[in-house]
Amino acid sequence: MCADAMVRLTDLRKRFGKTTALDGVSLTIGPGEVFGYLGPNGAGKTTTIRLLMGMLRPTSGRAEILGLDCWHRPVEVHRVVGYVPGEPALYDRLTGHQHVTFCSNLRRPKEGNGKERHRAEELADRLDLDLDHPARTLSRGNRQKLAVVLAMMSDPPLLVLDEPTAGMDPLVQQAFHLLLREHTARGGAVLLSSHVLGEVERVADRIGVVRGGRLVAVERLQELAARSLHRVRASFSEDISAADYAGLTGLRDLAVTARSLSCSAPQSSLDALLKMVSRHQVVDFECAEAPLEETFLGYYGSDYDRKNDADAH
Ligand SMILES: Nc1ncnc2c1ncn2[C@@H]1O[C@H](COP(=O)(O)OP(=O)(O)O)[C@@H](O)[C@H]1O
Ligand SMILES: [Mg+2]
Repeated sequence: MCADAMVRLTDLRKRFGKTTALDGVSLTIGPGEVFGYLGPNGAGKTTTIRLLMGMLRPTSGRAEILGLDCWHRPVEVHRVVGYVPGEPALYDRLTGHQHVTFCSNLRRPKEGNGKERHRAEELADRLDLDLDHPARTLSRGNRQKLAVVLAMMSDPPLLVLDEPTAGMDPLVQQAFHLLLREHTARGGAVLLSSHVLGEVERVADRIGVVRGGRLVAVERLQELAARSLHRVRASFSEDISAADYAGLTGLRDLAVTARSLSCSAPQSSLDALLKMVSRHQVVDFECAEAPLEETFLGYYGSDYDRKNDADAH
């Protein structure tokens, strides 16, 4: 595991004067993994990413990529990372093609770069980006696409992407997610930040939620889905007893009146719940899986709230 880690953060902290942007984050990202780094604005996502890219010096702790210390070995680190910053820096007057040539030449001035150019064209095609236009004429979404092409064209083992889908339309996002999947299928890894769960849940294997500079949760998406809450409502033709349901484990927001019941239940509680419900004559029954966002809040809502309180002081 140690040698295999693509990214390793160890108790990473960053203070800017009195602001603590990152407050002791530890995490590991392995090969073949898309890690969704999720958090609201100001949570510390970009700070983490800039520490990884060797652009900031940690106040304490370590950031490593493939075993290389990001602050002390930035040149080697940049060689193995494709990086898309939140606000891609492009040259206004250069076209997409010229950016591709320029970046390839920077990386391999002596070798031919035909292969990279070819790969860049393929990526642009799949993201529906025209490389003929100067950067200053590109929309936000198209600038992001060009930055993604430049980051991916050399097929680096690790992609570090700071909210790359902002401004991309949903179809392009789909094509982009497919590219990330192909990248991990070849053993690559991806750190993908976002402030919207819906954006990472389709592509991430794990998600880490960062809030106020701390990781408040790390979840494998599959496991989270298995624990996903279901909203259950039932009505009966006879009176039921609240006590019967209070004894079931895992139920949330349980509300029982004489002839009706509503609650949220994880998958693991559904069987016991159904059996209890079926002891009485059922008039109506409804069971729907809640959106992942709600499941997340169901489990981590108190952490969110506590942090919000702390922020207010
Ligand atoms: N260069 C800086 N100087 C001072 N404060 C900063 C600097 N960069 C980030 N911060 C602060 O650190 C916190 C985390 O910011 P950031 O990492 O940009 O969050 P995110 O990318 O999740 O929106 C914020 O409170 C932000 O204001
Ligand atoms: Mg940011």
